[in-house]
Amino acid sequence: SKSPIRVTVTGAAGQIGYSLLFRIASGEMLGKDQPVILQLLDLPQAQKALAGVIMELEDCAFPLLAGVIATDDPAIAFKDTQAALLVGARPRGPGMERKDLLAENAKIFTVQGAAIGQYAAPDCRVLVVGNPCNTNAYIAKESAKKFGRVPAKNFTAMLRLDHNRALSQLASKSGRTVSSLKNLVVWGNHSPTMYADYRFVTSNGDKVKALINDEAWNRDVFLPTVGKRGAAIIEARGLSSAASAANAAIDHMHDWFLGSNGEWVTMGVESDGSYGIPAGIIYGVPVITANGEYTRVEGLEIDAFSRERMDFTLSELTEERAGVADLLV
Ligand code: NAI
Repeated sequence: SKSPIRVTVTGAAGQIGYSLLFRIASGEMLGKDQPVILQLLDLPQAQKALAGVIMELEDCAFPLLAGVIATDDPAIAFKDTQAALLVGARPRGPGMERKDLLAENAKIFTVQGAAIGQYAAPDCRVLVVGNPCNTNAYIAKESAKKFGRVPAKNFTAMLRLDHNRALSQLASKSGRTVSSLKNLVVWGNHSPTMYADYRFVTSNGDKVKALINDEAWNRDVFLPTVGKRGAAIIEARGLSSAASAANAAIDHMHDWFLGSNGEWVTMGVESDGSYGIPAGIIYGVPVITANGEYTRVEGLEIDAFSRERMDFTLSELTEERAGVADLLV
């Protein structure tokens, strides 16, 4: 039988953690034959709640759960980990400005990136969920760099929730099933500026853009609906999306480790300079995953509308990067 993979989850006592841990432990992320050891990080004041979550994990008697540790120390949480899901982040408090939010998170992700750089397994795959996730992933990547252990390409941000939201909207508009839809892209930042690009989407060989045949819908309904979905869920539920965010994290890591079977999926990854995105920025792009690696889908045609949208979401990311530049030493 396989030896266990160490999986780190930060913010493990939070609401996404509560939807995520049980699915990782049941084998939905890394496979139904892959034992896992959960290494759970949260703040000191959350350790009591985390102990309760661990009691529930025990009470599930998951056959694949080979161990659980809880800690408030990143050096312990990231030790020898091969899969790190960085969910914990500082939420925006009342009256808190964007630059303060960026700065507070920069502190967290500098520490965690450095801990990954020093203590994680060299092949550790990192997914940042905690917002602002692209810039947090950028900070973690830059902070790990000086240790020369975990490569920059292994630091990714979660655009998969936007991808899944867009798939679902396209399925309902076109009357086709979600599983029939191929070749969706979500470019850029995980924020309302993201650009869900349906130009290449097919369903059983048909072009979905032609099936829908309604550019006004794309511009005035589809893009705003996907972009503002997080806010709509907070408005309806009184809490932010957690189960769907956990589901997207499972999808992202599952496909990275086990492959996307030739399908395009969206990941926020370090730009290589293609598509006019400056190298180094963490930006949502289409990838195909196989053998534990992702490969960018290259050479897609970018029309004027798409260029404008891609540059708009990029401008937000370059601003965020500028906002944290002096915090990265
Ligand atoms: P939550 O507030 O319920 O839980 C966050 C947990 O993180 C708390 O237990 C808190 O104690 C912990 N935490 C805070 N700072 C920490 C640190 N330095 N180290 C370890 N743990 C720390 O929040 P929820 O709903 O679970 O969301 C978590 C994050 O995910 C938020 O930043 C949210 O904006 C983001 N998110 C991202 C999505 C995406 O698509 N990328 C989608 C939905 C949420």
